[in-house]
Amino acid sequence: MVKFADRLAEIDLSGIRKLFEAAGSDAINLGLGQPDFDTPSHIKEAAKRAIDAGFTGYTHGKGIFELREAIKRRFSEKNGFEVGIEDIIVTSGASEALHIALEALIDEGDGVIIPDPGFVSYFTLTRIAGGIPKHLKHDENFRLNPDTLLERIEPQDRVLILNSPSNPTGKVQSRKDIKAYTEIAKDHGLVIISDEVYEELIYEGEHVSPASFYEDVVTINAVSKTYAMTGWRLGYLGAPANYVEEMLKVHQYVQACASSISQFAALEALTADQRCVHTMRDEFRARRDLLIKGLAKLGFKFPIPEGAFYVFIEVDDEEGFVRKLLENGVVTTPGSSFGAYGKGYVRLSYAASRSDIKRALAIIERVV
Ligand SMILES: Cc1ncc(COP(=O)(O)O)c(C=O)c1O
Repeated sequence: MVKFADRLAEIDLSGIRKLFEAAGSDAINLGLGQPDFDTPSHIKEAAKRAIDAGFTGYTHGKGIFELREAIKRRFSEKNGFEVGIEDIIVTSGASEALHIALEALIDEGDGVIIPDPGFVSYFTLTRIAGGIPKHLKHDENFRLNPDTLLERIEPQDRVLILNSPSNPTGKVQSRKDIKAYTEIAKDHGLVIISDEVYEELIYEGEHVSPASFYEDVVTINAVSKTYAMTGWRLGYLGAPANYVEEMLKVHQYVQACASSISQFAALEALTADQRCVHTMRDEFRARRDLLIKGLAKLGFKFPIPEGAFYVFIEVDDEEGFVRKLLENGVVTTPGSSFGAYGKGYVRLSYAASRSDIKRALAIIERVV
């Protein structure tokens, strides 16, 4: 019998994927967190040009210079903070950026404070890095209350993860609260990892980057959600120089560099006309309105999603609800997949066509 690493013994494969695989091929998928749009054609063309021009080898470990230049400009103009071109690493999706940040920051037994409910990878990547995930409960409106954060901090805690707009709640944290979290982090010597992958998908409120208030922040983003490019595996991070040096040690040995072709595609995505982003955002907003109106009519309670593409609804019997919908051809995700405080909720993704959303609403009405 092969003995596998103890470190991985308690880590489950993603429950969301299992559910999706259990559904029939014609099921309506409100389970997965990825845009159903195709990558815009000008981005695909840039990738084809890169292949034809022979940009098919390894790149600089941190990523091609022009892309890092575009990312630097974006951080400065959109997010309100400055980093050097050398202080950016282009990664294989936001997932790799999260992984190398946690590997660089966490020693065995260090605490990582994670919003709960929150994106499932935060909990598992913390454990893979040897850290202890500490669940930070939202208040009833899914706001991360600064007072709750203060009460939760213990001496062994090293990192606070923030994610606004949030997967799975769709909540956007306010400027005032983001500033308050950075002040608490500063007072307690916590590094913030800020996952901003849904930055462009905001329908109400504004996006505020913690790095505009505080130095010790690793800001993570990706082209995955913004440009319908999940399969291209292209993300990036910006951080102070000494952080980048450490994170690069992990990136260099596990990844070498992000895909050269995807880097040229991302360069086009970030620097070309942004109308495609606005078109997709408008469509997501219309789908959100359709779904929340239908759910409200059926009597469901949920926080109004202000960003991303998820609605997090309250249900009496989470497991039963998800199973019943699955049997009737609608895939959803149980709230417990997103942490202990997600119990009693179900996440519906509206990264699905309006006709699928209408059909799903009819099935939900029948099931309840
Ligand atoms: C909050 C959040 N961060 C990161 C990711 C991963 O992004 P990527 O596909 O760029 O690795 C996801 C994907 O669902 C997400 O929801």
